[in-house]
Amino acid sequence: MIRITPSILSADLAHLQAEVDSVAGAADWLQVDVMDGHFVPNLSFGAPVLRNLKTDIPLDIHLMVTNPADRLREFLDLGVAHISFHAEAVPKPEDRRTIINAIRKGGATAGIALNPTTPLSAIDDVVGEVDLVLVMSVQPGFGGQAFQPVALEKIHALRQAHPGLMIQVDGGITLETAKQCHEAGATNLVAGTAIFGAADRTQVITALRG
Ligand code: DX5
Repeated sequence: MIRITPSILSADLAHLQAEVDSVAGAADWLQVDVMDGHFVPNLSFGAPVLRNLKTDIPLDIHLMVTNPADRLREFLDLGVAHISFHAEAVPKPEDRRTIINAIRKGGATAGIALNPTTPLSAIDDVVGEVDLVLVMSVQPGFGGQAFQPVALEKIHALRQAHPGLMIQVDGGITLETAKQCHEAGATNLVAGTAIFGAADRTQVITALRG
């Protein structure tokens, strides 16, 4: 079953509670794009933005930051369901394992993310240990970008090699690319513009699920 994960980066942040309420009951997860202005050129938000947010939707934290190990505690203390960090930010296998273990010890599932230009081989060391691989279909930093089809080859290869792995795809997800990702083997789709740019968010989420 495909999970649909709206990304709040594309939401009206001046009305975040209402925006999140508008996807409740339809969204499977809610992605929080944490950007530090260093690992990616954009600066977004951190844990304080979530402190007063009231939602039952499981929170999925996407750490687009240089030192993800330093950012875990503030989100785990909020009871988030999932945290993904970028392979490019943590090159050493032992450091990746430390982060994966810390995320799990904090009660969340652990994911590792790959930029479009990063080959699957870059995560050979931990792909069998994570709960999820986040395949970026855009260069991280901004919503509203065009889907990069190179992601489909990675999704397919991951699915062949790891049948039970959660494969999440993020960036440029539309009705058309959602179908392509689902066919390639993805199990979780992140969408910002497609969902928060629409009037009827529930209808879009249902359509993206296929
Ligand atoms: C980009 C973010 C994505 C982005 C998705 O760095 O990680 O989650 O917000 O937005 P769309 O769906 O508009 O590509």
